[in-house]
Amino acid sequence: MASRVYKIGQLSDIHIGESEELVQGIDVRANFTKALESSSMRDIDLLVLSGDLANENAERGAYQYIAERIKDYRVPVCIIPGNHDCVEVMKDFYDLEVHNGKCYYSIDFHGRKIFFLDSACGDVSRDQLDWLEREVPKIDGEVLLFMHHPPCFCNHRFMDLRYHLKNMVEVQEVLSKFPNLTHIFCGHYHSDFEVKMGRQIVHVAPSTQMQINRNTPYFNLESSAPAWQIINWGEDFVETEVHF
Ligand SMILES: [Fe+2]
Repeated sequence: MASRVYKIGQLSDIHIGESEELVQGIDVRANFTKALESSSMRDIDLLVLSGDLANENAERGAYQYIAERIKDYRVPVCIIPGNHDCVEVMKDFYDLEVHNGKCYYSIDFHGRKIFFLDSACGDVSRDQLDWLEREVPKIDGEVLLFMHHPPCFCNHRFMDLRYHLKNMVEVQEVLSKFPNLTHIFCGHYHSDFEVKMGRQIVHVAPSTQMQINRNTPYFNLESSAPAWQIINWGEDFVETEVHF
């Protein structure tokens, strides 16, 4: 990788509905558009949609809408499913790499590798963990990982209590083996923050649909404004910016 800094735009938890109707009173299509077309995204080198593209249950209208919006996007777009998505349906709209029904893959990115996992079922399958154990040690230098669910508890009372990754013990045991993996990028929690997981940093991206208050054990809407994350990946550093 040359010394330039590469930029990745991460849009997460988009929650587009089947039709143009509002989703929980929120114009999620306008929110997605605001994020996609924001000036912060203008000079990105890669766009990642990190799950929950569809609002509730893999609505085809949601996938159709997003497919049209990213069809001629100026940089590559990487997609992973969230718990409201279904890879079998998404395959009709996107060119996905699917193994045994799971969408997991890696890409070459300016001489480095980025890995993507499928946690749509609420866990990360053993196949995927075995694949990581085979592939990550082959890479010299730093790698990045995207997955929809954070692989750890996050001090987000509402989400941790109800929707945490089911097999985080198994997942953490594997992830902790990789010295060249220090930054993990997730979504799912509808809130932006970073969590230390040993020497690894889990960066949780906000949602383009809405933000959920971290400090209450019940659902408490913090904001219905969209937010998104920009990742700056340099030779010796990774920095994130959250935009609203
Ligand atoms: Fe989710």
